[in-house]
Amino acid sequence: MSAAEILGGTHIVPVVVIDDPDAAVPLARTLLDAGLRAIEVTLRTPDALAAIRDVAAEVPDILVGAGSLRTPRQVEDVREAGATFGVSPGSSPRLLDAVEAAGLAFVPGAITPSESLALLDRGYDLQKLFPANIAGGVAYLKALGSPLPEVRFMPTGGIDADNAADYLALGNVACIGGSWVAPRDLLADRDFDAIRNIAAAAASLVNSD
Ligand code: 3PG
Repeated sequence: MSAAEILGGTHIVPVVVIDDPDAAVPLARTLLDAGLRAIEVTLRTPDALAAIRDVAAEVPDILVGAGSLRTPRQVEDVREAGATFGVSPGSSPRLLDAVEAAGLAFVPGAITPSESLALLDRGYDLQKLFPANIAGGVAYLKALGSPLPEVRFMPTGGIDADNAADYLALGNVACIGGSWVAPRDLLADRDFDAIRNIAAAAASLVNSD
């Protein structure tokens, strides 16, 4: 299945940085409780892979993705850990070859129309736009919609409770991602009540998450 199919109906993807591997499972349960159905664990900390493995094994009802994918080796590792989908801020031929060989549903990143078209040529109609707010935000995505009608975007980077609804309102936005739902400091404090409140507010922005 493609990432667009796997994430179909999922509108909000919390992007998380895991410093404490024991926090991943309670975090995933908290997000599910709050009405969200996906989590993207970024490959930026030593415990990210263990977190993906634990969530995949212990919280099967959540879609667990691996974020910040950059190398073919990481693709193999996250596939083996049980990731349901992968996300990258960009793409390279080597990375695309690796995700296709591994059969990993993948959301590659694009910022320019040429990057989007190259990915579309390879069948990726769901693409990440990162860093969304710096790349031009809502206005930029709106402008891309008309000449690139086949592309659906997952903007991330600078999205928060204040602007999430503006992104979600765009016809070419399939889902949004961001760390505002489960910020690193709240995770460090294991403040799952606070995270549940933020996640529930995010889930209330859409009715099918
Ligand atoms: C990502 O990997 O998508 C971003 O780090 C998320 O960006 P944010 O921290 O601004 O939400």
